[in-house]
Amino acid sequence: MTELSSVGILGTGSKVPDNVVTNFDLEKRLDTSDEWIRTRTGIRARRIASENEATSDLAIAAARIALADAQADASDLDLIIVCTLTPDYFMPATAVLVQEALGAGSCAAFDLNAACSGFCYALDVASHMIAGGAYRSALVIGAEVMSRTVDWQDRSTCVLFGDAAGAVVLGPVARGGVLGSVLGADGRGASLLYIPAGGFKEPLTTEAMAAKRNCMSMNGREVYRFAVQVMADASASALKRCGLTSADVSLFVPHQANIRIIESAAKRLGLPFEKIFVNLDKYGNTSAASIPLALDEAVREGRINEGDIVVTVGFGAGLTWGANVIEWNARGSKSGVPGE
Ligand code: ACO
Repeated sequence: MTELSSVGILGTGSKVPDNVVTNFDLEKRLDTSDEWIRTRTGIRARRIASENEATSDLAIAAARIALADAQADASDLDLIIVCTLTPDYFMPATAVLVQEALGAGSCAAFDLNAACSGFCYALDVASHMIAGGAYRSALVIGAEVMSRTVDWQDRSTCVLFGDAAGAVVLGPVARGGVLGSVLGADGRGASLLYIPAGGFKEPLTTEAMAAKRNCMSMNGREVYRFAVQVMADASASALKRCGLTSADVSLFVPHQANIRIIESAAKRLGLPFEKIFVNLDKYGNTSAASIPLALDEAVREGRINEGDIVVTVGFGAGLTWGANVIEWNARGSKSGVPGE
């Protein structure tokens, strides 16, 4: 558990692929229905990357928008963290591909994998690195091509996910910023949500591919139970750490996995629905990209303004969780459509 002050979000950006796949499109090729997906998850559509679009492409596009928003130059960055479970390569890190494309000199660059909690983890890590004094500015990106992790014949997983990237630029601010974070993990739940083959423990073979062991395996009900509990608990304890309560929250920006999970967490926290940001109907679950994409869209819609207390909270494979409390300091509101 950590407490910080004076490191804030100076700019936000996001990028989603052009290709929109609606529930009605999925109905045509799977034993599913728009009604089932919408009522069980809240998702209506998702964006799917084209064959030649990789995590780094989405990350670079989102980063450029965030840098422009922060009126910062890539050459001024001291640190780049890319949160992803779908890196372009096992090595090198996707962050160095982003660094090179942006012309960010020789700044530190690494990937962070905490699945869907990645952005909450990286916000805490980068804030501490800046607060420690050795780094002045950081680019934190959540970027994923989740469409490549699922079996498109498996209706219990493929309907849930989408591809996207969201980015923030962090730097010192006069007041507010990231006030505190809570991070956690419970490795006993590792097998509830994982991709069995394709790593170095179980390399990809023809047999593994035929058995779809290169695709996500998920115990949806167990993950659901965990998510409802941890989203509320992590948010409440991060707020408490900062001397705040739910009553102080201006906007709750949760990981966009399932509207029922979000509603339960909000209810447990006693937050009215108008204080919850939801965009999963358009994008589905974009894993580590979900929170920075939601943050960027919330800022563009004028839902976040200077002085607001914003809580971001995520959960994911691991099992992992994280929550951040931010006193918003970015300049003004923007307008427009994210990533376009
Ligand atoms: N269309 C139609 N029917 C379906 C579909 C579908 N797409 N998917 C499952 N069903 C069926 C099931 O086969 C089952 O049928 P049965 O009763 O005949 O066996 C029925 O619907 C009910 O299935 P449940 O699994 O009980 O449905 P539930 O209401 O629990 O919803 C869901 C499933 C949406 C997956 C939910 O459990 C959930 O959201 N869990 C959390 C998942 C999550 O957030 N994962 C991401 C974590 S983030 C990360 O790190 C990647």
